[in-house]
Amino acid sequence: MALVAVPQFVYDDALEPLRAAGHELRVRTDDHPLPHGELVEFVAGADALLTILTDRIDEAVFAAAPSLRVVANVAAGFDNIDVDAATAAGVLVCNTPGVLAESTADLAFALLLGAARRVVEGDRALRGGEYTHWVLDQPQIGLDVHGKTLGLFGCGEIGQAVARRAAHGFAMDVCYHTRSKLDPEVERRIGARWVEFDELVEQSDFVSLHAPLTDATRHRFDADVFARMRPTSVLVNTARGPLVDESALADALADGTIAGAGIDVYENEPAVHPRLLEQHARVVLLPHIGSATTATRRRMADVAVANVVDTLAGEQPSHAVNR
Ligand code: DGY
Repeated sequence: MALVAVPQFVYDDALEPLRAAGHELRVRTDDHPLPHGELVEFVAGADALLTILTDRIDEAVFAAAPSLRVVANVAAGFDNIDVDAATAAGVLVCNTPGVLAESTADLAFALLLGAARRVVEGDRALRGGEYTHWVLDQPQIGLDVHGKTLGLFGCGEIGQAVARRAAHGFAMDVCYHTRSKLDPEVERRIGARWVEFDELVEQSDFVSLHAPLTDATRHRFDADVFARMRPTSVLVNTARGPLVDESALADALADGTIAGAGIDVYENEPAVHPRLLEQHARVVLLPHIGSATTATRRRMADVAVANVVDTLAGEQPSHAVNR
């Protein structure tokens, strides 16, 4: 029997396989993260952790739980976990790929369309009584999406799901930039071609971010990059906030360097740069809901629990990032 610590809310019935395997659970049902010092106390002595992306898992955690074998994040991203420290402590880090790509791609497209066609602004205007009559040059005149160029920064499973929607559903010209090119067969299937980073930012009408947060991608989109983007372009970010210098984005939107943005993730989440909040024209801001559908969030919990069950049973979990 092992001790599994769950520092914040996870669906109780999703924990059933852990109980069925005879493990002891130390569960917090609160859906706020613990301050780091309290988190360290909470996980002391645990053999496994089921974590949320707001739990910061670092050396202090590994020191407090010397018998820890696995940290299973209920997320595809794992930048809240110090993977090098985990590896040094002999702890597996697991994530939940494979179950949230389609939902997140749907939301990226919702943001892209929402910003381009001014959907949220239009809704606000109508509810505010501003729609008095139809005119040719309506205040919410937007940008076309179909047939335009979409540039994907990062093209893993979420980027690929966005590419398919764009190429096959909206007849867009889709290009992507990653460190290594995808297999030509994958490129053909998703309808996307590899380009240099410079071409991506300079030639795209829409730039959508799908890269993980690493030292190399932090602030990859800064004032210099915005200055090279088209003045009619729209930035979409459903990946991680710190890929973007949020202050530079607020400037770029305010002075018309770029035309709009659809943002789901923030540099200092849950805080949003105040000047970003002031921007309304072609700017849609959402509260990190890329994977937030009933079915997807439940599947993420199930996959994370399976990662713990498998590890504690002495098997290789399906989704270890540092195996
Ligand atoms: C993830 O999984 O990394 C998302 O940000 C939340 O679903």
